[in-house]
Amino acid sequence: MKSGKGLLLLLLLCAVRIPCPGEKILHLGTSTTSLVLDARKGGELKFVYYGAKVEPDDLNAILSAGVPYSDAYQAYGKYPDEETPLWVVHSDGNMTTRLVVRDVVTETAGGSTVTVIRTGDDIYPFDVNVCYRTYTDSEVIETWVEITNREKADVVLNRFDSVCLPIHKGDVWTSHLSVGIMGEAGLVEEPLLQGTMSIRNKDGVRNSLNSHSEIMFSLDGRPDERHGATIGAALCYSGNYELAVDTYWGRYHQFRAGICPDNSSYRLAPGEKFVTPPVALTFSLEGKGGVSRNFHRWGRNHVLRHGNMPRKVLLNSWEGVYFDINEEKIVSMMKDAAALGGELFVMDDGWFGGKYRRNDDSSALGDWVADRRKLPGGLKALTDSAAVAGIGFGLWIEPEMADISSELYEKHPDWIIKAKGRDIVAGRGGSQVVLDFSNPKVRDYAVKAIDRILKENPRIEYIKWDSNSGIYMHGSQHLPSDRMSHLHIEWHRGLEDVFRRVRELHPDIVMQACGAGGGRVNWGVLRYFDEFWTSDITDALQRIYIQWGTSHFYPAIAMASHISASPNHQTHRPAPVKFRADVAMSGRLGLELQPADMTDEEMAVCRQAVADYKSVRNTIQMGDLYRLVSPFDRKNVASLMYVSPEKNDAVLFWFRTEPFAGQILPLVKLDGLDRDRMYRVTELNRIDDTPLPFEGKSFSGAFLMNYGLDIPYRHDVPEERKSDFSSRVLHLEAKD
Ligand code: DGJ
Repeated sequence: MKSGKGLLLLLLLCAVRIPCPGEKILHLGTSTTSLVLDARKGGELKFVYYGAKVEPDDLNAILSAGVPYSDAYQAYGKYPDEETPLWVVHSDGNMTTRLVVRDVVTETAGGSTVTVIRTGDDIYPFDVNVCYRTYTDSEVIETWVEITNREKADVVLNRFDSVCLPIHKGDVWTSHLSVGIMGEAGLVEEPLLQGTMSIRNKDGVRNSLNSHSEIMFSLDGRPDERHGATIGAALCYSGNYELAVDTYWGRYHQFRAGICPDNSSYRLAPGEKFVTPPVALTFSLEGKGGVSRNFHRWGRNHVLRHGNMPRKVLLNSWEGVYFDINEEKIVSMMKDAAALGGELFVMDDGWFGGKYRRNDDSSALGDWVADRRKLPGGLKALTDSAAVAGIGFGLWIEPEMADISSELYEKHPDWIIKAKGRDIVAGRGGSQVVLDFSNPKVRDYAVKAIDRILKENPRIEYIKWDSNSGIYMHGSQHLPSDRMSHLHIEWHRGLEDVFRRVRELHPDIVMQACGAGGGRVNWGVLRYFDEFWTSDITDALQRIYIQWGTSHFYPAIAMASHISASPNHQTHRPAPVKFRADVAMSGRLGLELQPADMTDEEMAVCRQAVADYKSVRNTIQMGDLYRLVSPFDRKNVASLMYVSPEKNDAVLFWFRTEPFAGQILPLVKLDGLDRDRMYRVTELNRIDDTPLPFEGKSFSGAFLMNYGLDIPYRHDVPEERKSDFSSRVLHLEAKD
């Protein structure tokens, strides 16, 4: 890790090494990237290179010219003044570790190869496998670490990062997502400065509400969408995390990512193996856009459930009726949803309860039976009505939680998270508590509750899985006192166990991950889910920013994006239905309002939007994303487009973000098209009386990418329908 203080030390520690014959140089890679490590037996594992693909001749030249090496994964001991990815206290109290390479094994199966570099302490029976997975069809390399204690007593893990990646200093900038005035996924871009930069989440349950466990590094200066060497990293984990970059002496920034060790030191028992969550790494010379596309493709092909299955257009009941659910309302909403072209109806919170009722957020969580006072025919009557309406049926559930006012809590007060001797600290509604998923009995209950609902109601095809509380007053009534600090880790192991078992029982069900809005937007969770709820903020203007940030790491197919009522319920901003529909169409389109309250104009525009969306959803959901003009750049416009993999179809979204009279808005240069093909432009969701000047005309990909389209900033609509909002959705079809 260390590279030196002062010239002498610098030369000694950061020495240019020429590998000797017989040394094990590992060249891991994808079709466009290379990761090179020096895994010589008996030596420390060294990082040599990560970036654009190097050909064997270049690699030999690099190696013989000499490369400044850095530790690839080292433990605390050698350089105590700097952070290391691993810090353990051995069974005899020794706080230092020195890992050396024992051997390297590889295994190839089903389109991916796992390379395991087996390292271990040079004097203790303590093993650390540094693992890498590469795919034949993906530009992502996953890396994780497996730590095994073969000592005679517990080893305490104080830090256990999944990755340590040296990044050469220069003008390196980071792009990451944190909550800000823009809501979830606010894009933050800043240069790496001296010291430690750290992004943490310690919510305990939902780890993407305040910050995200993904980051990009733009190596050639200020982040750019189209150009520049860029590294992306995503920690695939549902729990507490820390991403850190240490910038001290030497030529490298050291990037580390893993489970947040705060309050989570882990006693590894003799014979026990601790496996860290994976970090997905990728690299592109096409700037942030290239990195995003790499993540999206990998995610759709290898992580996301049903990643290549087009998603249905749905209507969710939440902002339409909130807790005020009854059979009549739900049945009429389903019919209206079907009439709008919707393919699925999702009944949100408020449907359940027995002794305790769910009329607000203060009771009944955990009592997962339909409230017969609201729904006399139960879920069966609703799923039957959905079938008659020709629409699928989905259900909201929050299996990780209970309310103090619930029959579940009455029966099992010992099933909740609670510190010994302390009062319960309840969350939402003054009553919500978190179930203790470190306890296998509690996990069995959750799996059975979901399984029962789905078995009793085989027509349910979609689950919205919510989680609305963090862990407060951290403590388990199940874990022994010497393992209390394991709670955060055990809780997420338990959560994953529940996800896995539900998936084994119901592989085909479509599941949405939701965490009080966008609290469950993480690749670790998405192994089990089809999509996520992006944010509880449904205001279209604000969603442009939220979805922009989110799109850096997540594809449109997974990003639920709903047309909601005007004025918006969170910002109270009125917006025309055209604008609301256009923004929602740039993700996985849905609606979230009471259709009975919609005007005729809203109905007509939404019907059109749903029909238009269906005609291009394959391109939006499976296509490559090109972000064209960032709303964060304050150019009064935001624009993005999706291009089909064959480049024969594309959809352009254009939104005016700030209205001023007499505005001259920038031309939007398109991207990702085939320069030599001609593309015919058609406006979707059109509301204007006269077509756009380029409607029905064809332009070469080269022209569209070199010059762009001059999009008028006003809609040509009658005076009474004019507003300060403006947006366009353009469909581009290759003519050949
Ligand atoms: C929080 C979610 O983000 C909302 O969409 C909604 O499902 C509510 N919970 C229901 O309580």
